[in-house]
Amino acid sequence: MSWITVNRNEPAIDPNAPPILSAALCEKIRSLFPRYDTKRAVLLPALHMVQDGLGHIPWQAMKEIADILEIHPSDVIDTISFYTHFWTHPKGMKVITACRSVSCETMGGVAVLLELKKQLGIGEHETTPDGRFSLVTEECLAGCDHAPCLLINEKLHRCVKVEDVGRILADDNNDRISQKRSDLFDAPAGDSKSKDVSGLESTSDVAEMKASE
Ligand code: FES
Repeated sequence: MSWITVNRNEPAIDPNAPPILSAALCEKIRSLFPRYDTKRAVLLPALHMVQDGLGHIPWQAMKEIADILEIHPSDVIDTISFYTHFWTHPKGMKVITACRSVSCETMGGVAVLLELKKQLGIGEHETTPDGRFSLVTEECLAGCDHAPCLLINEKLHRCVKVEDVGRILADDNNDRISQKRSDLFDAPAGDSKSKDVSGLESTSDVAEMKASE
């Protein structure tokens, strides 16, 4: 978890600045309202959309998201600061997320992380000088049976060995997947089922999940 420290004596945003969120992006966020009981519940998918669109979530975008969802900007900041997934400053074109949980650690994840740091020449939550890669660690990536794992953007790499690191970094397609997980948020309102990246149908509606049990 990372906490954001704010200097309250200085305005975080220019009140006269033009909107940072495009009309299309705002509409995309609003299109999710029918799928949730409250506008506040749209906060997480909205943050994903904005980060996908802008690369990170600047202060002004937080204010604009709060306005759309009719919540306080501090609610947006609280959520962003809880999840390391969200960035408040620009990140590299590709974000490498190394798993730091127990299955991966016991299967050599620490050595893989060290090799990543060595080859990239950066530490955690840093970006290479050419802007190509940023490096972070996260808890379990849900691939324990193929540990150690790492993500490059939304692509999961399994059973990664130290000797694989150079090849993976050099591969231009190391983040290519058939469908971005974030695209799942584009499912039309009322369509509670969507195709998962695995090609399987996933159910996002809790009531429907319970009914199918
Ligand atoms: S512990 Fe690494 S993917 Fe689960």
